[in-house]
Amino acid sequence: MIRLAPSILSADFARLGEEVRAIETAGADLVHFDVMDNHYVPNLTIGPLVCEAIRPHVKIGIDVHLMVEPVDALIPLFAKAGANIITFHPEASRHVDRTLQLIRDHGCKAGLVFNPATSLSLMDHVMDRLDIVLLMSVNPGFGGQKFIPSTLDKLRAARQRITAHTEAGGQPIWLEVDGGVKVDNIAEIVAAGADTLVAGSAVFGAPDNDGGYRTVMQQLRKNAGKT
Ligand code: DX5
Ligand code: ZN
Repeated sequence: MIRLAPSILSADFARLGEEVRAIETAGADLVHFDVMDNHYVPNLTIGPLVCEAIRPHVKIGIDVHLMVEPVDALIPLFAKAGANIITFHPEASRHVDRTLQLIRDHGCKAGLVFNPATSLSLMDHVMDRLDIVLLMSVNPGFGGQKFIPSTLDKLRAARQRITAHTEAGGQPIWLEVDGGVKVDNIAEIVAAGADTLVAGSAVFGAPDNDGGYRTVMQQLRKNAGKT
């Protein structure tokens, strides 16, 4: 069982309510919500007001990916705005353990995001506090970039750590991938251990007039099964 999380970074921002309803109808499991601050990453996107605005349009969870520095002040705001999952980059928080705890204290699932060059060892001492681990398969900041192939080895390594943790009695941890996920590479990404797939341009690049989102998502799911 995999989860598909279309990233609204590639949606039509002038029709965001319609766009999130369309991906829910087309079978999305989560709305991936990319928050960029022009400081931690060189781009500027959307904040809690937009999260609150789309919340009533869908029942599926909102997966907030914070590419901001600092992190903590935004957590209560996103929790209040209806976020279900909040992930952040460890480099952007002075106190990673405290930030993870803060997210759970606000009733959301908490996760760490690993940039292509960030070591997985940063999760070692906070495994108990993680609901999700997100590996970036592009450098964060923009949609439509190419999948970095070395992410596959990193996924296998992350999967091993998570399996060891759960086999030792730890809580389940989702393994998410973000960046360059397409119909033609999703099989190898899932085979390497991912269970939650972000796809921005792959989904929203399809024309929605004739059920295009549904067609792409069905292809993603079908290919994900071919491992
Ligand atoms: C990049 C974002 C991604 C992006 C993915 O910084 O975190 O979520 O929207 O877009 P695609 O799927 O087009 O690579
Ligand atoms: Zn993202």
